[in-house]
Amino acid sequence: MSKSKLGILISGRGSNMVAIIDAIRDGRLDAEAAVVISNIESAPGLEKARDRGITTVVIPRKGRQREEHDREIISALKSYGVSLVCLAGYMRLLSSFFVHEFENQILNIHPSLLPAFPGVDAQRQALEAGVKVTGCTVHLVDEQLDHGPIVVQRAVEVLDADTVESLSARILEQEHQIYPEAIDRVLSKRFRVEGCRTFVTD
Ligand code: GRF
Repeated sequence: MSKSKLGILISGRGSNMVAIIDAIRDGRLDAEAAVVISNIESAPGLEKARDRGITTVVIPRKGRQREEHDREIISALKSYGVSLVCLAGYMRLLSSFFVHEFENQILNIHPSLLPAFPGVDAQRQALEAGVKVTGCTVHLVDEQLDHGPIVVQRAVEVLDADTVESLSARILEQEHQIYPEAIDRVLSKRFRVEGCRTFVTD
């Protein structure tokens, strides 16, 4: 059977994108990275994708309305046969048109245990709130920011000596583990979504 094709959307350094591509290369994830798309031409992740032999496409917003920009991204994703979209540090909110075109077929990763600390600077938000445990979440994307049925979460302890940088680095290590795991779950024939919960049934 042909492998599920992933479209990875990035805006920056692309370390989660690399974790996904490497998991495929190492045989830990049975899928194909069909295309990497960035809205930012200078995103460092683009070169990392090309170095790994993955096709890249840059689709800048160019002052257009959100939906018009999204339509161009959707048509690129479709032209590469993408069935699962993985947001990996993609710094744009998706239009509802995009969310509905790929209903329950868009994943995002966020550096907190959602629903705590959505939005930017999640690690700083966790330190400022004084929580002792934070972590990371991979979830299906709905129309709200950093929201939707949760696929995988991993807890990370907050240490007394932590700074935003040290905490972010330990969370990022776990992000790189759980993103390929979450993709594997979603691609399972036994994966199902019920309201805000997801399951892999026996
Ligand atoms: C990660 O912390 C991810 O959770 C968040 O943005 C960051 C992207 O990092 N959504 P990278 O581009 O994958 O290195």
